[in-house]
Amino acid sequence: MKEVFKGVFRNGGFATIPLTMDSFFGEKIRDGKLRVWEPYRSKLCAAIARGLKTMPIKPGSSVLYLGAANGYTASFVSDLVGSKGGVYCVEISPIAMKDLLRVCEKRENMIPILADARKPESYERYVGGKVDVIFEDVADPDQAEIMLCNAKLLKKCGKGLIAVKARCIDSVEEPTKVYKEVERKFQTIFKILERIDLAPFEKDHLFIVLERK
Ligand SMILES: C[S@@+](CC[C@H](N)C(=O)[O-])C[C@H]1O[C@@H](n2cnc3c(N)ncnc32)[C@H](O)[C@@H]1O
Repeated sequence: MKEVFKGVFRNGGFATIPLTMDSFFGEKIRDGKLRVWEPYRSKLCAAIARGLKTMPIKPGSSVLYLGAANGYTASFVSDLVGSKGGVYCVEISPIAMKDLLRVCEKRENMIPILADARKPESYERYVGGKVDVIFEDVADPDQAEIMLCNAKLLKKCGKGLIAVKARCIDSVEEPTKVYKEVERKFQTIFKILERIDLAPFEKDHLFIVLERK
């Protein structure tokens, strides 16, 4: 069993050490203590499987998570930041929020926020200062703009992680052209550290690691 990042283990698949043994996603527990993390269900796990080098989510990190859905990936982020970290989970759908709340009730470091990620001013008071990392997995044509408007909540040199879904931004354009345009927008306030194609786990998705200038 190899620890590829602090708290992320690789042995064929991927796993974390669970913060709590409560399970909401049918995850398997391996060797009695490791929680199996599926790259086909999580773009962050897919990025790790595809060779991510920079992992800014560490024990004690504060993470603003945009598009938390039912909390699957957010719960693994919660494992990684541990009891001294925090995961601020922004989700727009009240239906997804119902499931997310059940997860957050069992994980004290996950804070559910029912809000539109396009309006950071509506939730910045709950985030309590600037965060170490912004993670965005929001299927929206304005994905880049959402990261840019939330960047005011990111520390200087803080990291942005985004799963860009080409088909959602432009359903007909070549994905490479879509990614280029997204990257051009980021260059105003971010340095681009890494770009990872998520195939075969996700088609036409680019995972980008950013650093706030
Ligand atoms: C691809 S799913 C996220 C999956 C999740 N990150 C995971 O891996 O477990 C995208 C989520 O973004 C949410 N979403 C879409 N637009 C949003 C917005 N403007 N603000 C906040 N959440 C949004 C959707 O409701 C959906 O739950």
